[in-house]
Amino acid sequence: MKFGILTGGGDSPAINAATRAVVLAAFELGHEVVGIRDGWLGAIKNRTFKMTAAHVSGILDESGTVLCTSRTNPFKIKDGEKSVLATLKKNKIDFLIAIGGDDTLGVAHRLAPHGLKAVGIPQTIDNDIGETDYSIGFDTSLNFVMEAIDRLRTTAHAHSRVIVVEVMGRDAGWLTLLGGMAGGADAMLIPEAPFCLDKLCVNLKTLHKQGKRFAVIAVAEGAKPDDASEQFSKIGEVDAFGHTILGGIADWLAKEIKQRTGYETRSAILGHLQRGGVPTAFDRNLATCFGIAAVNAALEGKHDVMVAIKGHNFITVPLEKALKKNRRVDMNTLSESRFFLQMAMRDLK
Ligand code: F6P
Repeated sequence: MKFGILTGGGDSPAINAATRAVVLAAFELGHEVVGIRDGWLGAIKNRTFKMTAAHVSGILDESGTVLCTSRTNPFKIKDGEKSVLATLKKNKIDFLIAIGGDDTLGVAHRLAPHGLKAVGIPQTIDNDIGETDYSIGFDTSLNFVMEAIDRLRTTAHAHSRVIVVEVMGRDAGWLTLLGGMAGGADAMLIPEAPFCLDKLCVNLKTLHKQGKRFAVIAVAEGAKPDDASEQFSKIGEVDAFGHTILGGIADWLAKEIKQRTGYETRSAILGHLQRGGVPTAFDRNLATCFGIAAVNAALEGKHDVMVAIKGHNFITVPLEKALKKNRRVDMNTLSESRFFLQMAMRDLK
């Protein structure tokens, strides 16, 4: 059997660990692997090469992706999907392993009725892919957010300031909520629960009166105040899949807090730093197990599916099911962290 492999969408730490596992597992079982560079763009343009063990040697602990990536939507390019299928045919690829987020996996799913046989591996720091408890890259990014907040807390304390830190995650608040909790942030503002600026400022003043002269507020890039209709976007553009490129809320919030409280404020945007760094043991192992599980699933004849982890079990789920709904912070998780969230929520008791 000949496997094709591509990585798409925003990169995240430990993609390479998954690529390595796919290649080594396929070789071990006597199969070939064709690497496709630059995600779906490379599939359109036939950017392919025969993979050898040397291509995946020494990459277990490297971030980024040796296959490179793109945010290309073949359905937005003239004859895009036909070109993808032609590339697969030309290279005699029987089975594709697609490593990516909902957009990349969504393309694989849309191509299934056209004959594409694919298994998806979920990767995104946002951890927002349905039907899996974890996606590759989230844990490494989460640890980075925690460490960033640790560092910001000490300087906020030293200068008696309010520091607002902006965290990625698109429409999901996992990184902000769990990173903020682990880093000891005073409030976490997430997209799933619009916040009340007045309440946040009143609570900051109360903390101040109680003797706490500094605060760190973790705000998700996709969070918005309860009186706003749109999320913040400094660039004001959308990507090939129609997602608004988010960013800018921390600067706005820091200014508002200063105006309303008189406290000295600063903002910090973690940005793409959240997508790099040495992958954690958790992410490396998750990626390795996903890679092996994907090869096994393909050999069992499964396709149009995604490998996933539920509790301690590795499973496969139909892509249709996984892509139905993004995995966002649910009310159960929210109720556990109410203590911190209520700083900024009008109605939470
Ligand atoms: O989906 C991963 C992610 O890092 C989001 O958290 C963020 O909104 C987006 O990608 C940024 O995308 P880009 O790298 O295209 O700016």
